[in-house]
Amino acid sequence: MSVSIKSAREIALMRESGRILAEVHERLGEEIKPGISTYEIDRIGEKMIRSYGCTPSFLNYNGYPASICVSVNDEVVHGIPNKKRILKEGDIVSLDAGVIWKGYHSDAARTHAVGKISKEAQDLIDATRQSFYEGMKMAKSGNHLNDISKAIDDYISSFGYGIVRDLVGHGVGSNLHEDPQIPNFAQRRRGIKLRPGMTLAVEPMINMGGWQVEWLEDDWTVVTKDGSLSAHYENTILVTDGEPEILTI
Ligand code: CO
Repeated sequence: MSVSIKSAREIALMRESGRILAEVHERLGEEIKPGISTYEIDRIGEKMIRSYGCTPSFLNYNGYPASICVSVNDEVVHGIPNKKRILKEGDIVSLDAGVIWKGYHSDAARTHAVGKISKEAQDLIDATRQSFYEGMKMAKSGNHLNDISKAIDDYISSFGYGIVRDLVGHGVGSNLHEDPQIPNFAQRRRGIKLRPGMTLAVEPMINMGGWQVEWLEDDWTVVTKDGSLSAHYENTILVTDGEPEILTI
């Protein structure tokens, strides 16, 4: 396994890539309301990404057929946009997007409420987002990879939610998925030492019920096995000499 350390030039490009993606998420989030289809979200998202001169990272990646992964309720990640899937009041929807800017990917995800949602659903969204911050705080030079994983695990375990184990965070840069893999649950090994210049996509996927997931017939959509709601929150971050920098906010 080799974890790339980005040069100053690469970091500058990653920052631009991340800033554009942050804006795409901000603007795409405003489109989320009852009545919109997951297909329309993808169409709007792809247009937005291209309007910044970027290419969607996910389109055709291993055959994925869209630019935005749109995952509703018990769908964990990699939902495929569909004209017939209409969002309704009370749903939660996770949007995962990546952009390529001058050869550099950034990757981020947000879970949104559709209209008014239950307190339980909002709590899940909030805890998932906060678990990212708990992990991110540990992304300091000299710490180890497992410090991130364990911080997420410790935080989420206090709620009794299920942490998805089949999918993990990852390094990101000139490739969408680079080493290292970043599990959202504690490991027995401490993992690699974190160094300035590493760019990482930290992305907890958290289920209201059990951690188990399965794949739908389309071979993409990941759903919770027990049908419980799932939330996703992801940012691309940079390890520095000091505090980590979030590139996609
Ligand atoms: Co990712």
